[in-house]
Amino acid sequence: MEKAWWKESVVYQIYPRSFCDSNGDGIGDLNGITGKLDYLKELGIDVIWLSPVYQSPNDDNGYDISDYKAVMAEFGTMEDYDRMLGRAHELGIKIMMDLVVNHTSDEHPWFIESRSSKDNAYRDYYIWKDGRDGKEPNNWGACFGGSAWEYDEKTKQYYLHLFSTKQPDLNWENPLVRKEVFDMMTWWCDKGIDGFRMDVISLISKTPGLPDGRVGKSGYGDPGCANGPRVHEFLKEMNREVLSKYDLITVGECSGVTVEEAKKYASSAGDELNMVFQFEHMDLDGGESFKWNHKKIRLTELKQVMSKWQTELEGKAWNSLYWCNHDQPRMLSRLGNDSSLYRERSAKLLGTCLHMMQGTPYIYQGEELGMTNYPFTSLEEFRDIESINAYHELTEKGIVPPEEMFDYISYKGRDNARTPMQWDDSPSAGFTSGTPWIAVNPNYKEINAKEQMAREDSVFRYYQKLIKLRREHEIIVYGDYRLLLPDSGELYVYMRSLGEQRLLVVCNFTEQETAYQMPDELESGKGRVLISNYDRETLEPSATLAPYECAAVLYG
Ligand code: GLC
Ligand code: CA
Repeated sequence: MEKAWWKESVVYQIYPRSFCDSNGDGIGDLNGITGKLDYLKELGIDVIWLSPVYQSPNDDNGYDISDYKAVMAEFGTMEDYDRMLGRAHELGIKIMMDLVVNHTSDEHPWFIESRSSKDNAYRDYYIWKDGRDGKEPNNWGACFGGSAWEYDEKTKQYYLHLFSTKQPDLNWENPLVRKEVFDMMTWWCDKGIDGFRMDVISLISKTPGLPDGRVGKSGYGDPGCANGPRVHEFLKEMNREVLSKYDLITVGECSGVTVEEAKKYASSAGDELNMVFQFEHMDLDGGESFKWNHKKIRLTELKQVMSKWQTELEGKAWNSLYWCNHDQPRMLSRLGNDSSLYRERSAKLLGTCLHMMQGTPYIYQGEELGMTNYPFTSLEEFRDIESINAYHELTEKGIVPPEEMFDYISYKGRDNARTPMQWDDSPSAGFTSGTPWIAVNPNYKEINAKEQMAREDSVFRYYQKLIKLRREHEIIVYGDYRLLLPDSGELYVYMRSLGEQRLLVVCNFTEQETAYQMPDELESGKGRVLISNYDRETLEPSATLAPYECAAVLYG
């Protein structure tokens, strides 16, 4: 297998609004990030993925961009950005920018021009259509509720927005749009950035003719434009025009991606992207009303999905590995156990299970501390457009009763990941000296970076070790993967192999003691425990694993 630095790296995602506030206005900012780079150096990560810091009216917290070459005023200035980039590079940390080019803000100058008249030079930068029988051009629903079409009085046509009405979709069929995007990317690359995380990049090529989609519970049709007919052509062009000219790390956020599609997006031929974020494991607790339910992820299904991606991309493409990001609730509260008894243990188990797989691991801010979901008690505590819109839409239509819907958004809502980073036990968890834009999780007195950095057996120290091990053992990066005990509903056991070496990873995902039997092919006694959340020194051929116990054992 071909070696590459981005295969050997660990990425840390920063959601700037919630990371660190340097000036007391309650909003995280660039100088706040610069001040915490030493912390990230100490953790040992290689790359930062920075959620959007561009100028934005913040309808969707920066994922609605009104100027791609300016910094959001709340976050600071371009000088602050350059200082952050320079300091990161001094520390050997790379910076990956979030590239949001499926849509812009409706306040972007291109859209302001585009909506001004039908014959404006920018009209065709977006997707405009006449209505059908006095209604929307088709039945598509938007991801944040309502129709995907918005009527514009001025020119009496509708524009497409797969997300909020303030996020009009760019028309990638137009070569001028592609050129603008590629020029903008080149501008950032010339500034010295190290890569891109590409927002909903699987949606840029719309289904030709924009046909009606299958109607779901919300009453709207599914746009179904993931992996559209020209998406690979567009990404190959982007690769030729921009990516191939620099040494970058690239990951595409690809909702609706299948293993077969991923082999094209992230092909080892290197003519599109390095890797994708797939969603199959995130969708395991989804259902008819999208993600709004209380379904639990079943371990056997999780193993089957993860293993499919591990084995099918082997040698053909490259995996990204993630449990958490700014769009997901905290995995510790979803698949682990966030009660005080098992919180740290299960956080370490989740880390081990993911970081020992093949692929590039992503850590979301606070995951390395075992941060948990927020205990919401009222709708007023929510800030996220997705949760707020979904609550109103589903309750007002009588599809889900209000109390039930409140429970769903509390459990699955994106704000769970967006509460401020917990730095210490001072007021507002050391995130701000002012009033935070979103409430701090009340558990910050127990869960915070300061306490964990000072304690040898903390989750922070454990993640630090996971990252270090990846550097010391090639088998963790390049070894192949095989699932053992596929039918066990309690244990996740897998084996990595590289040459003569074997790495056995054993995780007990339950609160119960669970019996474990070593596969015959591994000679007992010769294994060396690389990491364990129970200070285990050896793994006997027949062992009883404690609740949430995990271990990675190296043979040969
Ligand atoms: C992606 C982002 C999400 C955003 C959406 C629209 O899924 O991760 O936060 O709301 O795209 O840009
Ligand atoms: Ca601030």
